[in-house]
Amino acid sequence: MHRLAFVIFISLHCVATYGKRGNVLVLIGDDAGFETAIYNNSVCQTPGLNYLASRSITFENAFTSVSSCSPSRSAILSGLPQHQNGMFGLHNSVHHFNSFTDLKSLPLILQKAGIKTGIVGKKNVGPEAVYPFDFEVTEEQMSINEIGRNITLMKDKASEFLSKIKSDEQFFLYIGFHDPHRCGSTNPEYGQFCEKFGNGEPGMGVIPDWKPVHYSPEEIVVPYHVQDTPKARSDIAAQYTTIGRMDQGVKLMLQLLEKYGHLDDTLVIFTSDNGIPFPSGRTNLYSAGMSEPFLLSSPEGKSKWGQRNKELVSLVDIVPTVLDWFGLDYPDYKLQGRKVQLTGQSLLPLAHDDLSLQFESQPAGLQYKVGYGK
Ligand SMILES: *[C@@H]1O[C@H](CO)[C@@H](O)[C@H](O)[C@H]1NC(C)=O
Ligand SMILES: *[C@@H]1O[C@H](CO)[C@@H](O)[C@H](O)[C@H]1NC(C)=O
Repeated sequence: MHRLAFVIFISLHCVATYGKRGNVLVLIGDDAGFETAIYNNSVCQTPGLNYLASRSITFENAFTSVSSCSPSRSAILSGLPQHQNGMFGLHNSVHHFNSFTDLKSLPLILQKAGIKTGIVGKKNVGPEAVYPFDFEVTEEQMSINEIGRNITLMKDKASEFLSKIKSDEQFFLYIGFHDPHRCGSTNPEYGQFCEKFGNGEPGMGVIPDWKPVHYSPEEIVVPYHVQDTPKARSDIAAQYTTIGRMDQGVKLMLQLLEKYGHLDDTLVIFTSDNGIPFPSGRTNLYSAGMSEPFLLSSPEGKSKWGQRNKELVSLVDIVPTVLDWFGLDYPDYKLQGRKVQLTGQSLLPLAHDDLSLQFESQPAGLQYKVGYGK
């Protein structure tokens, strides 16, 4: 009798927790590093990320698969490292790298499964047929500064996407911030990090949702891998200001989830593509080039919220995590004549509440195993 009650309890639990899940929101910073309170920087103010971290597991040992923009983003969106998905270099302008045409990317898999997909901001992967989204507003439609740094515009576009999601639909929304990327080589008039873009000064335009926070070169923290020079300090002060713009954008996206009733049924991931654009950072195979901030917020893991985790995780874990969340299998197919297998793994067991159910196929049928997660 006891045993029967237990089985019924487990079945109910199973239905309640592992039934139809909600949605996924992925937030990607551009060259974003550890200049946030969640990674112990006490100067750069990031209330948006602090709030997200209070609802997340914060990973302290997360790494990109490659310290370069398009290759890293292709790994984030395909779950396969760049040498396997074909994006060996930058996709933009003359570089012209693309993933293999037979690659089955995450947006493609989700689209086939009927999940609504949206991208707002920086994409920088291709070809289009390999990375299709149902709703797409990126640097391919407008200027990258507008769609990647104007957080009001990004909010409006994300809102447009979310407003079209019907109550019986699930969505995957990918937000590509262009902050805190440098912009001195393309738009020096806006400052080294586009810190003046939209700040309300004459000729700079206005970003209505952005309240710029300024820092003096004296107060910033010089990372261990950067020489402490006046030039580096003024660069870092400008970088902090644009980290603040991205951070306020993160807050806007979470507020949108709340507005549309999805704060409590959406898995949220925040990370970056590669290290910060300073010596030994971006494009370098040093820790400062390869390490990433990584927050994983699951509404099914409230007991883990606010915790820090030292497991080694990789950005190629994002695809298995999202597929696990939606209960989807990775497709069975070949690239260059070889069966494709994901090498990352789902991070949900780390992020979810302790009672974890595993299903084991037995000759007699399906058997439930109850275990307590790590
Ligand atoms: C931040 O500080 C906390 C508390 O001192 C420590 O446990 C943690 O490892 C530090 N994290 C990083 C990324 O330095
Ligand atoms: C940002 O976008 C908003 C909304 O589209 C617009 O009103 C504003 O002028 C834009 N700001 C800049 C600096 O382009």
